[in-house]
Amino acid sequence: MSEELYPIDLGPVIQYEILPAEITAEDSPYWLVRSAEGVYRLLLAVCPHAGGDIRPHEDIFYCPLHFWTFHGETGACLTLSDRRLAYRQVIERNGRLYAAAKFD
Ligand code: FES
Repeated sequence: MSEELYPIDLGPVIQYEILPAEITAEDSPYWLVRSAEGVYRLLLAVCPHAGGDIRPHEDIFYCPLHFWTFHGETGACLTLSDRRLAYRQVIERNGRLYAAAKFD
């Protein structure tokens, strides 16, 4: 896991006890999430439909423009199965979280 692949330092993992956490990275808005298995992801908080601001609600995300909904751990779209929130993989190293340079 090189720094070239995961160059975006999100800071100490201890600061993310409450998730999802709203994050700005490289001038874009994200939600940091963690699956039940402990896998972190950085979900782009921009709707793939028409660019609405993605917001959390209970254990899912939704877009207030046309109310598409998204899985709260993976960003998979629950409204149209072939759509999803773009995301970056996140790794934990030495107590800090780092996001991938590229979207998956
Ligand atoms: S812009 Fe998000 S549902 Fe249409």
